[in-house]
Amino acid sequence: MSRRRAERVASAARVEDLPAPRLPEVAFLGRSNVGKSSLLNRLVGRRTLARTSATPGKTRLVHFYRVEDRVGPLLLVDLPGYGWARVSRTERARWRGLVEGYLEARPTLRLAVLLQDVRRDLSDDELLLLAWLAERGIPALLAVTKIDKLKRMRRAERVRALAAALGQAPVLLVATSAETGEGIDALWRAIAAHV
Ligand code: GTP
Ligand code: MG
Repeated sequence: MSRRRAERVASAARVEDLPAPRLPEVAFLGRSNVGKSSLLNRLVGRRTLARTSATPGKTRLVHFYRVEDRVGPLLLVDLPGYGWARVSRTERARWRGLVEGYLEARPTLRLAVLLQDVRRDLSDDELLLLAWLAERGIPALLAVTKIDKLKRMRRAERVRALAAALGQAPVLLVATSAETGEGIDALWRAIAAHV
């Protein structure tokens, strides 16, 4: 695993608490439990930088991780997941406000990485989010996660189906596993091309 120098530099519970936009940012978005925090950890080669959990709803704040890369310093931004029913309606509304508020407030956002479990189909949540990003001219990438969970044939089938579901959307798809590290180099190349 190639380690990169990385540290958490800010965490925000409210839009008002977001740090001033300065460095280029790459945001990780997607359903709760899809593997946002795990993928971020794998990207920097550190298992415990962002907290992960088998129970959805682990990340409740917007966390900013400063990473030194060859392309220069950048921020990887770990966001709370959506679509998790087992939190109160108020808490869900707060997360939604936080994620939308974040997306609207960042002129420094260079790339939105939308995560999608390889075993699930894209839902309206993902499609609406992609459309919303496209309207605002924010480049998006679909990181298909947990590919280690499927055998090769089935995995290839699922990746093709997800690519087809994206239709004409100008979204790069990268198949990843935080477990085995597959796709991590491709993800870094895509990030480097945008920051
Ligand atoms: P929230 O913070 O709740 O929104 O979730 P998250 O999207 O940050 O997910 P997290 O990284 O916490 O991972 C959720 C669960 O999926 C954990 O049990 C991880 O170990 C597991 N997981 C994440 N990525 C992978 C992967 O690539 N392969 C496998 N097998 N498990 C994974
Ligand atoms: Mg998380």
